Amino acid sequence: MKIPVLYGSIREGRKSEAVAKFIHAELLKRGIESEYVAPEQYKEMEPLEHKHPEPWKTIMEQADGLIIVTPEYNHGYPGAVKEMIDALTTEFAHKPVGIIGAGGFSGGMRVVEQLRQVVIEQKMVPIREAGYFPMIWELLDEKGELKNPDQYIPRLEPFFKELFWYAEVLKEGREKHPWTEK
Ligand SMILES: Cc1cc2nc3c(=O)[nH]c(=O)nc-3n(C[C@H](O)[C@H](O)[C@H](O)COP(=O)(O)O)c2cc1C
Repeated sequence: MKIPVLYGSIREGRKSEAVAKFIHAELLKRGIESEYVAPEQYKEMEPLEHKHPEPWKTIMEQADGLIIVTPEYNHGYPGAVKEMIDALTTEFAHKPVGIIGAGGFSGGMRVVEQLRQVVIEQKMVPIREAGYFPMIWELLDEKGELKNPDQYIPRLEPFFKELFWYAEVLKEGREKHPWTEK
């Protein structure tokens, strides 16, 4: 199963990338093939709208689902993550997406809700489970990594379980019932 991790921000000094790296490592531990996708490597190409930049295009074409890990900025999503969603079209279709937010008091709750509305337009299937990392700066050690990351694993189990279930079921669905526009 292939599930890339898309990180949401290019802000200098960003802290929430520690969460994205942790989630990516968890996927690899569980035997999932996963590319780590950072919008920073595409920022010279903005605006990305429908440009299908590589390797993002191929990564998503081959993916069975997607995890987005993103900070919340002003009650919404960073422009960088929206650009990455706008960059592709059919590559996302009929695949599940799980969203994990990080922030201050909100823990990224509002960015999770808002991104669900965006990804539907790309025919992705947002899952019900999510992850929230409030006061992210308090959760990091002096190296900028999550302190005691194992503490988050029990809370993330339902998230992974639901995402993997949808990834299997929708993969079979896409194969058995290829989508046609007409
Ligand atoms: C422009 C900006 C707006 C922000 N707005 C919010 C917000 O609406 N809600 C929230 O919980 N945190 C907000 N934060 C705090 C971030 O969540 C905080 O910086 C955290 O470290 C995660 O973002 P980072 O990965 O860019 O560091 C904001 C931060 C910035 C830079």
